[in-house]
Amino acid sequence: MDSSVKSLIPDKASKERSKQCCSKNFIFLLVVVFCFLSTLVYIVFPDPFEFKAGAFLLQSTPPDAIRISETLKTSPTQHSTIENRPKYTFADLDKFLCAKQSEPPNNTRTVLKKPCPTRGIITAIAGGRTGNQMWEYASIWALGKKLGLEPFVPTCIKWKLEVMFDNLLLPTFRAIAHCPFDFNSSVSTVGNGNNEKSIILPRFNFRFSDAMPWMEQILKEFNFRKELKDKAQQTLHELLPKSSTLKYTFIAVHVRRTDYIKYVQRRFNQRPVTDNFFRKAMAYYRERFFNCAFIYISDDPNWCFNQFGNITDVYVASYHRYSSMEEDLALMEACNHSIIDYGTFGEWGSFLAGGHTVASNTQVINEATRKWGHWTLIDDVNTLTI
Ligand SMILES: *[C@@H]1O[C@H](CO)[C@@H](O)[C@H](O)[C@H]1NC(C)=O
Ligand SMILES: *[C@@H]1O[C@H](CO)[C@@H](O)[C@H](O)[C@H]1NC(C)=O
Ligand SMILES: *[C@@H]1O[C@H](CO)[C@@H](O)[C@H](O)[C@H]1NC(C)=O
Ligand SMILES: *[C@@H]1O[C@H](CO)[C@@H](O)[C@H](O)[C@H]1NC(C)=O
Repeated sequence: MDSSVKSLIPDKASKERSKQCCSKNFIFLLVVVFCFLSTLVYIVFPDPFEFKAGAFLLQSTPPDAIRISETLKTSPTQHSTIENRPKYTFADLDKFLCAKQSEPPNNTRTVLKKPCPTRGIITAIAGGRTGNQMWEYASIWALGKKLGLEPFVPTCIKWKLEVMFDNLLLPTFRAIAHCPFDFNSSVSTVGNGNNEKSIILPRFNFRFSDAMPWMEQILKEFNFRKELKDKAQQTLHELLPKSSTLKYTFIAVHVRRTDYIKYVQRRFNQRPVTDNFFRKAMAYYRERFFNCAFIYISDDPNWCFNQFGNITDVYVASYHRYSSMEEDLALMEACNHSIIDYGTFGEWGSFLAGGHTVASNTQVINEATRKWGHWTLIDDVNTLTI
């Protein structure tokens, strides 16, 4: 209605007008409230995709497969209407998988581009630190082979592992970053047979049984950089008496303490191993091998030194000098055998060392894991001090 016409309308219509006016005001108010609320929502959850990823990753326990597939399936705006192309690319998937991971060190290696996948891919949500990420890499590697899916590693995992290893062959999503990816068409469970769809393994969904048959090839990719190998040999030489011309049997002893002691109790309802376990494990090796040197590798070197430092064949690496996580794992590899308490870091150290592994029978050790090398579980009862 034109305003000039409106002003000429006599009194009778005035009531009607004020009614209209009120309902207009009401609509205006609604619009304002709506705008305010949606701005608020936008501020809190800037990107609906990230919001979904964030909500999922904030779950305190690793979510079950169904929950993640629902999370992915309900991702909004699957397709843009304009060009009828999926809205998301593999670069978005990469971001989703690496959300909640700290920034990996910069990596300047050139990325070989690959053609866009024509069949399903297999990947995993990144979670945890070194040992867990090695399991994530191994799980992707093995399931790719087993299911005939194209394997891709989240960039954050590969870049972190490349700090240590120089022969990682699986590509990252950078190789296909621009290619479209349909979240709707991926699943988070490994089905039996129908492997057409892409699989995104949930966090901490390690495929022990699937990976063990391929372990030899996987370990070839976990090849330490030369600097780390050299450093490990140098450390072994520095620890031992200079005058000695004897040949040693090196046994890495991985002692995980600090945060893990509470975790073992909470997560597995188990007692942490005791100093008694390590004494027994050392005795086991002394009986069987010549001239043992026990190289303690730990997040709590002070405890190790206080417990075992006065024993003549014990050497506590990182007690006198700080060593990085990478140096520690390379040192485990350089040794001939292992004693491990728990955790995936020690587990990988023992795989890399080869030889024998001694662990405690009070700890959860995956059946499949023990297929690699020679494992001995010893009894850790009659405890002394924890
Ligand atoms: C990595 O590179 C980017 C871009 O060149 C830079 O912004 C960032 O600060 C670098 N990060 C580290 C940890 O060096
Ligand atoms: C996407 O997922 C929804 C809900 O599961 C389903 O109804 C729809 O058919 C799917 N779309 C495509 C293109 O697969
Ligand atoms: C090492 O020290 C502990 C006490 O801290 C003692 O019981 C043990 O006998 C010592 N062992 C040797 C070989 O000196
Ligand atoms: C034991 O480890 C040392 C140090 O890495 C190595 O030089 C030696 O060859 C290994 N011994 C055996 C029997 O593998």
